[in-house]
Amino acid sequence: MASFTIGVIVGSNRKGSINQQLADGLAKLSGPDFEFKRIEIGDLPMFSQDLEEPEPASVERFRKEIRTSDGLLFVTPEYNRNTTPLLLNALTWGSRPYGQNSFTGKPAAIAGTSQGPIATAAGQSALRNLLGVLDVRLIGQPEAYVRYTDELFGSDGRIADEREHAALDKKMTKFTEWVAVVAGAKKAAA
Ligand code: FNR
Repeated sequence: MASFTIGVIVGSNRKGSINQQLADGLAKLSGPDFEFKRIEIGDLPMFSQDLEEPEPASVERFRKEIRTSDGLLFVTPEYNRNTTPLLLNALTWGSRPYGQNSFTGKPAAIAGTSQGPIATAAGQSALRNLLGVLDVRLIGQPEAYVRYTDELFGSDGRIADEREHAALDKKMTKFTEWVAVVAGAKKAAA
């Protein structure tokens, strides 16, 4: 049985999303101690303070999944050099109500892919800023700005490109080690 649960949040709900494919490929790089669970964000209403009370069922489910995850993996496209409205909406819901931010202290990592030359670097930079405000504990390195090509994934969904595979494998090792450290410290303190 897996010892740690990683919640996976993808900033695109497009059918055939290359970032969803990347999220699945990253999960396949980690060992059996880590269970990767997709956290749905497409069913969250557009945030409005008028909708906060009573808590919508999808929001309650989302916040619970964040709180019960040992770590969080964000995989997202960039839209106009920023993160996507879908992800921004989810982050806004998770940060509320005031004083009860569900993201506090969560160990996390970011990755993203696009067909463009900067491969989500600007979008990830904006997201990194925002996650800092939400008190998320991101690993800084290695970064994962993945240039999408038709050869990136094999037919089994694994990361087939050798260079990307090696770089992303290093990232996932560092990330999962970080999750284990933080989750272990929490258990010891409980
Ligand atoms: C994009 N795309 C894009 N790509 C990029 O490299 N930098 C950018 O700033 C943007 N901006 C942008 C804005 C909007 C509104 C759209 C719809 C798209 C292209 C984007 O990377 C491409 O559509 C990806 O395939 C989106 O990721 P998913 O949905 O396939 O995971």
